[in-house]
Amino acid sequence: MLESLRGLGYSLPTALADLIDNSIAANSSEVAVHLEWAGPESWVRIVDNGDGMDDASLEAGMRFGARDPRAERAASDLGRFGLGLKTASFSQARRLTVASRQNGGPVVCLHWDLDLIGQESGPEWPIFEGPASGSEQLFAPLEQMEHGTVVLWEKLDRIVTDGFGATDMIELADRVEAHLAMTFHRLLDGYQPTLRLLLNGRGVKPWDPYLMGHPGKAFESPEYRILHTTGVTVQCHVLPHRDMLKPTEQEAAAGPGGWTQQEGFYVYRNKRLLLAGGWLGLGDGGKPWTRDEAHRLARIRLDIPNSADADWKINVLKSAASPPVRLRSQLNRLASETRDTARRVFAHRGHIAQVSGARSNAVAEAWQVRRSAQGTSYRIARDHDLVASILNRAGALKPDILALLRLIEETVPVQRIWLDTAEDKETPRTGFAGAPNNEVMETLSSIFEALVKFRGLNPTEARERLGRTPPFDRHLELVAALGVKDTQ
Ligand SMILES: Nc1ncnc2c1ncn2[C@@H]1O[C@H](COP(=O)(O)OP(=O)(O)O)[C@@H](O)[C@H]1O
Ligand SMILES: [Mg+2]
Repeated sequence: MLESLRGLGYSLPTALADLIDNSIAANSSEVAVHLEWAGPESWVRIVDNGDGMDDASLEAGMRFGARDPRAERAASDLGRFGLGLKTASFSQARRLTVASRQNGGPVVCLHWDLDLIGQESGPEWPIFEGPASGSEQLFAPLEQMEHGTVVLWEKLDRIVTDGFGATDMIELADRVEAHLAMTFHRLLDGYQPTLRLLLNGRGVKPWDPYLMGHPGKAFESPEYRILHTTGVTVQCHVLPHRDMLKPTEQEAAAGPGGWTQQEGFYVYRNKRLLLAGGWLGLGDGGKPWTRDEAHRLARIRLDIPNSADADWKINVLKSAASPPVRLRSQLNRLASETRDTARRVFAHRGHIAQVSGARSNAVAEAWQVRRSAQGTSYRIARDHDLVASILNRAGALKPDILALLRLIEETVPVQRIWLDTAEDKETPRTGFAGAPNNEVMETLSSIFEALVKFRGLNPTEARERLGRTPPFDRHLELVAALGVKDTQ
């Protein structure tokens, strides 16, 4: 049974998160995780400054199914099945040692070793007092503490596999850090964080999925209470369009799993993130929404109390949750609205969501999207300033220019763009991203000419109008330089 339980599906990051849950439930304010690379002698240690355990509670805690999952738990408790400590540990290691101290009392210590189980003839599983010989010094931190717990994993057969080396350990540590920064971000964040997390001596900084306070954010709803529940709350967020983020912000905002993996619902229990992304099986007309590129800016924060665990079908890995049927329609409506906004922001370079009259005077979009029963088509606007002025001046070439426009419209590589967008993490380059100034200026001055000579605007009006028009609103210094020679 023990060997089978190892395959429950934990990874190192999720297994560590489960142990940190125990530390938090025991009122720890600081948890230090250490990954030590030493070939086959590598080890992982979690030290917390929580309440600790006495002899009896340690013995109970080391048992499988230490507590009845149906029992009511303290509201702050992150446990549920009475399994985490053992299953999470054995998913990574063959030897688990726990040492603990409560109220300045004696240090108590027990260890399990899978290699020594089944060796003896009796029906009993041998659990050993004290640390395994040779590992005693790893529990030294407890000597200086009044209370706290040290969990040690050794014989890391699931981590240190054939060919695994020091650099792999470093990469693994990065993944652990990203996962912990995400899972516990709300406990690590704020003016006086309730938790300090250390990984190999360095503080773990929280990862905020919602870019709180970012000026480019497209949408942030108030916090809604879901009706007919005790304390289920939801807040909907639509992140800024990529144009509004610096490249470093863009990369950080994507999150450990990348943009599409990280879209959707973020389910928290006691501020601990259970589920990062996904649409909880909600959808339209019985068809569940999938995580796709177009909705990648939507993130919905959902808080549930631990009294609702059974209702939400929380699994042992704390990685899955499913909303009770009676809440689905409310959640569906909120998610639908958020998804729509996210899609609009994604498709329209982010500017669409800024509701203000200031843009009404902008240059018409070059591309028009037309939806009809026959499908969607993409047309170049004939009344776009530059297009209209060219057509007007075209003379005999006009039919050819119209034919060219039509050809371009009919051969937009839609599938190709769609594929590239879905496969790459980035949308294809548009809006003069990365183009040198002189290239932007070429196009810009043609439109400027069209506005002045053909539309009859004065240069100041034309500059103002271009300054409000995407993508030129991101090149204001170039816009300001337009036509300056002429007016002097
Ligand atoms: N770091 C810790 N500090 C204090 N007590 C702990 C710690 N880790 C585990 N325990 C005790 O061991 C018990 C079993 O833990 P676990 O197997 O994770 O199940 P659960 O968290 O669902 O109760 C916990 O309920 C707790 O009493
Ligand atoms: Mg637990």
